[in-house]
Amino acid sequence: MILIRRAQYLSRLLNKATASNYCRCYSDTHRKSSITEKIKQGPGLKDFIIESSEPVFTDRPHIPYLLENDKIKTKRKVFFDVYGCQMNLNDTDIVWSILKKEGFEKTTVEEEADIFLVMTCAIREGAETKIWHRLDHLRGYKRRAKDRSVKIGILGCMAERLKEKLIEKEKAVDVVAGPDSYRDLPRLLALTENGQTAVNVLLSLDETYADVVPVRLNEGSVSAFISIMRGCDNMCTYCIVPFTRGRERSRPVSSIVDEVRHLAEQGVKEVTLLGQNVNSYRDVSQATEKFDTHMAKGFKTVYKAKKGGMRFADLLDKVSAVDPEMRIRFTAAHPKDFPEEVLQIVSERPNICKLLHLPAQSGSSAVLQRMRRGYTREAYLQLVEDVKKTIPGVGLSTDMICGFCGETEEEFQETLSLMEIVDYNIAFLFPYSMREKTTAYRRYQDDVPDQIKKERHHRMLEIYRRKCQILNEAEIGNTHLVLVEGTAKKSGNILGRNELYLRVVFEQAEILAEDGGKRRVKPGDYVAVKIVGAKSATLYGVPLYHTSLCDFYRENQWGVRQAVN
Ligand code: SAH
Ligand code: SF4
Ligand code: F3S
Repeated sequence: MILIRRAQYLSRLLNKATASNYCRCYSDTHRKSSITEKIKQGPGLKDFIIESSEPVFTDRPHIPYLLENDKIKTKRKVFFDVYGCQMNLNDTDIVWSILKKEGFEKTTVEEEADIFLVMTCAIREGAETKIWHRLDHLRGYKRRAKDRSVKIGILGCMAERLKEKLIEKEKAVDVVAGPDSYRDLPRLLALTENGQTAVNVLLSLDETYADVVPVRLNEGSVSAFISIMRGCDNMCTYCIVPFTRGRERSRPVSSIVDEVRHLAEQGVKEVTLLGQNVNSYRDVSQATEKFDTHMAKGFKTVYKAKKGGMRFADLLDKVSAVDPEMRIRFTAAHPKDFPEEVLQIVSERPNICKLLHLPAQSGSSAVLQRMRRGYTREAYLQLVEDVKKTIPGVGLSTDMICGFCGETEEEFQETLSLMEIVDYNIAFLFPYSMREKTTAYRRYQDDVPDQIKKERHHRMLEIYRRKCQILNEAEIGNTHLVLVEGTAKKSGNILGRNELYLRVVFEQAEILAEDGGKRRVKPGDYVAVKIVGAKSATLYGVPLYHTSLCDFYRENQWGVRQAVN
């Protein structure tokens, strides 16, 4: 048995090394260890006997990642810096869970930190520029902290994109770890104790960290993120994500449902299911349940359509049933994966927020084709109509890119016209930034001048803000269900979010409670709030009474905009 495990370990190591050559530990002189050296460093018979009595993760062997000699000798304090998308926030919780188990401590005070871990993003050049500035600062900090050893680790997408180049370019960096190698972090950090630098940027076909219960950095928050899948197979021509996060894989349904239950028990009132493309979720370890979904007309994928397994509609069904008082959100989504079944379950369940992310990226069919999005402007608009019909009062959000390779003024105007037609409640608008390795980098010219990109970005923002102002003003007089998140530092006003994730601000007050008495508002409360004022990104209201999610919607039917008169 032990020999089989060792053989499996060696074969896994060889497979991984063949797939990608980037699991390397560097000495000070950056000598690259060969695969045979790596195997020699692997566990021996003794290690399997010792380690098997003390597993760190239930369904994964502790080996090969951390051997007794590799363990960190002193308690070390870690300072986290997080950039990028919500996946990075959740990944930081996973990293913290892994390190906490190994005896690391956490600090939010720079001066106390022994290790700085920077969770990075590579989506646009601007995102990376910010991180380079932060690294400049940390390099200076490390130089000044002469009397004690300070280590810097770069994690996440930029680590995956630049790999060992990061260490070559940025000499102050000690550890580089890609999104699929966080289990290896304790070992990588231990290696740095005797002056080595360590890199692990292997991408995995199956890593979902399903068995790692994330430890939230902001423990008191009423909302939490849950990663339900990792990676992306879509290969939009502009996007670096498939290269930094690898192939798409879904986490088993049972582990997601368990995590939702665990969070509900901790008093969390809102979970956001996360992934690059959550609605292509597919737990292949499960037989197809109720919903065997089809792609809507006019949409296609670039990859071979996958079959079977439990789909996103099934997952929503199960997750929303855990606690009817818990709001369920999900992001990011791809327009191709919104079959009738998904729309139906969103419309039926009061606790699934009726805000759908339908990232259009462009309003021009020609640009969409160059982007390899798999739909036309017409198919997208048809989807918007279907969504609105199935889910009355639904809110929509989008991502848009301007200045993509070859985008003409006429093509850009189609984006503007799409933004005029579709009422987006939330939009993330970006000027295009060419990324190495992507198809666009290899195939197209980044030929829209920066000045034009800037100007187009500005024009998109202007439409977006103007339309949001109109949409939000239309809410004045309506009553919204608001989940209270906290208090504004300066004004002391109460901050919360409505179903469409819009910020709602109101003054603290004693209001009618469920038991007939009166009480003040606190984080985690559901409050019925009458909207009395609106800006493009914020609603202002007057609190009416405490309520529950079920009671509010029982009294007011499903839907997001309810007038209680
Ligand atoms: N998987 C998600 C999110 C991807 S990253 C989705 O498909 O919606 C978030 C957004 O960044 C993308 O939707 C896209 O609008 C934008 N983006 C991605 N690559 C970009 C690039 N090279 N330049 C500018 N914006 C980009
Ligand atoms: Fe990038 Fe497209 Fe995947 Fe989103 S769907 S992560 S934009 S490749
Ligand atoms: Fe950035 Fe990676 Fe997220 S590139 S947007 S952190 S998936």
